[in-house]
Amino acid sequence: MSGAHDAVEIIMAKRDRGELDDAQIDWVVDAYTRGDVADEQMSALAMAILLNGMSRREISRWTDAMIASGERMDFSALSRPTADKHSTGGVGDKITLPLAPLVAACGVAVPQLSGRGLGHTGGTLDKLEAIPGWRAGLSNDEMMAQLESVGAVICAAGDGLAPADKKLYALRDVTGTVEAVPLIASSIMSKKIAEGTGALVLDVKVGTGAFMKDVDTARELAETMVGLGTDAGVRTVALLTDMSTPLGHAAGNAVEVAESVEVLAGGGPDDVVELTLALAREMLAGAGRDDVDPADKLADGSAMDTWKAMIAAQGGDPDAELPTARHTHEVPAPASGVLTRLDAMAVGMAAWRLGAGRARKEDPVQAGAGVVWHARPGDDVTEGEPLFTLHTDDEARFERALASLAGGFDIGEASDLDTTPLVIDRVAP
Ligand code: URA
Repeated sequence: MSGAHDAVEIIMAKRDRGELDDAQIDWVVDAYTRGDVADEQMSALAMAILLNGMSRREISRWTDAMIASGERMDFSALSRPTADKHSTGGVGDKITLPLAPLVAACGVAVPQLSGRGLGHTGGTLDKLEAIPGWRAGLSNDEMMAQLESVGAVICAAGDGLAPADKKLYALRDVTGTVEAVPLIASSIMSKKIAEGTGALVLDVKVGTGAFMKDVDTARELAETMVGLGTDAGVRTVALLTDMSTPLGHAAGNAVEVAESVEVLAGGGPDDVVELTLALAREMLAGAGRDDVDPADKLADGSAMDTWKAMIAAQGGDPDAELPTARHTHEVPAPASGVLTRLDAMAVGMAAWRLGAGRARKEDPVQAGAGVVWHARPGDDVTEGEPLFTLHTDDEARFERALASLAGGFDIGEASDLDTTPLVIDRVAP
């Protein structure tokens, strides 16, 4: 097949609820990556996929075509097994930071290729870049050497990995087609399969602060991704976890690094510790090392030692003071009672408006910006006592951040509390 005419046929087939055959999928993904299918044609196809879906076979073939657009990494020469985690994105979701060194301290190598944040969800690389000197870009050889010596790497995915996804993701972002389950599943899994991890744990977020607002759609996404991973020979499981409430007590960059270091020091917020341990146990089981209890490695300091080695190996100073914002603003609790709701989207939007996130992918982020909340749902609050502290370098940003938070919490009685557990369900092959 060749030429723009074939792209039109493919768009019309999906528009009319047809199933694309393997040759059509291979061609359209390859031709789009090469620039032979125009952005407006791929936009129309992405919208047809969003509206009409794809069969399991189509999603699997689409994923394979995206993998084939770039290189595949291979960690089989390492002396230890590998496991990775992917989160579909949340607010205050700093879990990768303590998790990668923790799992490495248990004897399993963690090759974490991460991204930058866009919109209200933060990006792991933006958080780590708050650490003075730390660099996100590593060559494949540097990554391999660090995995052997330290056991954990968190770095930017190189341009060679699933280039079709890079192009398509940017297009989906501006065409209202991010939320299609087949496109999210193939986007995430093409990168994770190409990365070459042996085991994979997916943290599929559900709730106001997540892509997936309801459990049924999140389960559909989780089942699709677990199927794709399993078919590709990656031991894959997914946890569905709550993202109606932001994780921990902080959303931003440096403020989340600080909270992660507390967890590595054996403290930190209960929910961050609980989720870090739950994901670590799944990763260790997938890598065949469920004989090790990760809680011991937090308690004995070995996860912290691995964190320091991991940061230092990428040029960072793990003992340096973290940057702070030039201005802070306290928001007092308007009433006394129990904090019954803290909305993840409201907090994520506030952190973003304070400068912790970006509106366009080329925008810079402020290392010190973010939101710290002094109570979590279930905690007592007292009228006039600080409920939030906002951080930014640019005072003009407070007003819009405060507007985001205004409807984002409720104070009431303990009986009004939502009882959704943090880990809602587990999806295995
Ligand atoms: N994360 C990705 O990598 N891809 C998506 O499509 C959505 C979230």
